[in-house]
Amino acid sequence: MIITLVSVVLGGVLGGVARYFISGFVARRVGETFPWGTLFINVSGAFLIGIFGALAEDRASILASPDPWLFAVTGFLGCYTTVSSFSLQTLALARDGEGGDGIDHSKVQQGFDIAPVPLDLTGKNRDLVGMGSYIVNANGGCLECHTNPPYLPGGDPFLGQPKKVNTDCYLTGGMQFGPFTSRNLTPENGLPEGHTFAEFVTIMRTGKDFDLKHPQISPLLQVMPWPVFQNLTDRDLQAIYEYLSAIPAPKPGANCTIVK
Ligand code: HEC
Repeated sequence: MIITLVSVVLGGVLGGVARYFISGFVARRVGETFPWGTLFINVSGAFLIGIFGALAEDRASILASPDPWLFAVTGFLGCYTTVSSFSLQTLALARDGEGGDGIDHSKVQQGFDIAPVPLDLTGKNRDLVGMGSYIVNANGGCLECHTNPPYLPGGDPFLGQPKKVNTDCYLTGGMQFGPFTSRNLTPENGLPEGHTFAEFVTIMRTGKDFDLKHPQISPLLQVMPWPVFQNLTDRDLQAIYEYLSAIPAPKPGANCTIVK
């Protein structure tokens, strides 16, 4: 705590002094009709923030630890420049991968990188599709249960083979779990698994089986981990739905077991 305080104060004192002398020096040299001194301070300060920010990305760098960062950026550059808080906050957002809209753009990008099928983004919210792909393909394990078989011959990671997803039948269902069979999740008449968003949310939160496939056993979906998925936020469910709207319907002629 004390070291943190000292880092900021010391940085601040040095930054303020540097600003006073450098802007005065530049002003005396170039004249004061235009505030060249302030311009020089802000441009050089923003430049240094960029360099420090890049250095902080490197774990081996001294700036990756909090106190040197507080000394150099929060304290020194904070008092040295007049734009620094703004640059700093923008930089902090960029470092967190967030653009200020609460969407984690690194996950959106990862979602697009790992989507195994071409996506139709027409009329869709691109960020939600990317987030949805991230949840479906990096978290939800939807492929493993909703594609039969999930992997192509020679591309089964469980056999130590390089992973090749069965893209022709991606998420078309048909995997057998005792008396239960996973369902098609691809768009039917434009709606993922033929359900509206409200119905999809009900399925994911309560396990309601709108098709009542096995009323003799239960009106609720079995095997499907909806008791886990019910904990997702509304926005994550929206992202999954948006992604499932963007994936292709099964390829005509492909040999997929489709269970509606
Ligand atoms: C452990 C296997 C498993 C996983 C993982 C899984 N599901 Fe399911 N899912 C099933 C099974 C099996 C059914 C059908 C259950 C039944 O008939 O009772 C089902 C049913 C559904 C339904 C109902 C479809 C309809 O037409 O009513 C939806 C929607 C669904 N799953 C979405 C998903 C999504 C999205 C994911 C990934 C985030 C996912 N599932 C992951 C096994 C799974």
